[in-house]
Amino acid sequence: MNQNDEVILKVESVDLGYSALQVVFGVSLEIKKNELVGLVGGNGSGKSTILRAVSGMIKPWQGRILFKGEEIPGLAPHEMAERGLAHVPMGRQLFPNLTVKDNILLGAYLPRLRAKRKANLDKVFSLFPDVEKFANVEAGSLSGGQQQMVAIGRALMLEPDLLLMDEPSLGLSPLYVKQVMQTIRRVADLGFPVLLVEQNIKQVLQFSDRTYVLENGKLVLEGPSSTLEGHPMIRKAYLGL
Ligand SMILES: Nc1ncnc2c1ncn2[C@@H]1O[C@H](COP(=O)(O)OP(=O)(O)O)[C@@H](O)[C@H]1O
Ligand SMILES: [Mg+2]
Repeated sequence: MNQNDEVILKVESVDLGYSALQVVFGVSLEIKKNELVGLVGGNGSGKSTILRAVSGMIKPWQGRILFKGEEIPGLAPHEMAERGLAHVPMGRQLFPNLTVKDNILLGAYLPRLRAKRKANLDKVFSLFPDVEKFANVEAGSLSGGQQQMVAIGRALMLEPDLLLMDEPSLGLSPLYVKQVMQTIRRVADLGFPVLLVEQNIKQVLQFSDRTYVLENGKLVLEGPSSTLEGHPMIRKAYLGL
């Protein structure tokens, strides 16, 4: 088996919901090493719910989730992080009154990473020179796009085997959306697999390797992003062509 074919995340026919309300129905997806995979769907289609299940915040009603080949029943989010899963939540959730540098350093809270904090911070800064410029500035004073870079930098401090990103382009101006997407592509090309959740299918198809399309909690389409761009359903329903 080619090393890059290694499956990092495998979601097998999961049903998910809250108390009695089912919101995700039989969803299966997988991410291989070095892949940038999109999961797109409208507001309320179940995207964040799937990410919550992958990061251990909620348990599947049915089906299994395998991370690096192992099932993850009942692991807490911090245990998932310990195993190499980084979740960049919606809205970035930085500490606005802490400096950019301190926000990024907070990503390295796990004991196994403390000794590598300095080296990893330097790596993040070399990856995002724009972020380094603002190292000593309060995070809250940066633009939304810059804050998103900081949030991604913080996640990289975990040396993750998989990055989950929940709508990183939300609320950003088109210029920053493109920058953030390019950054995520760069991160994936460095060898960090990414599951990228977005509403904006057009952007995702442009930057991801493969894409899954979710509607009302069910997958309706999946495939290589370059193929989906020309798919009649996508052209009609999402791209207005
Ligand atoms: N904590 C919760 N309790 C109850 N229902 C929820 C909760 N979070 C989300 N939902 C519902 O689950 C459905 C899917 O939500 P979500 O996964 O957040 O969608 P998306 O991220 O695609 O916008 C929605 O109908 C939403 O109202
Ligand atoms: Mg969401």
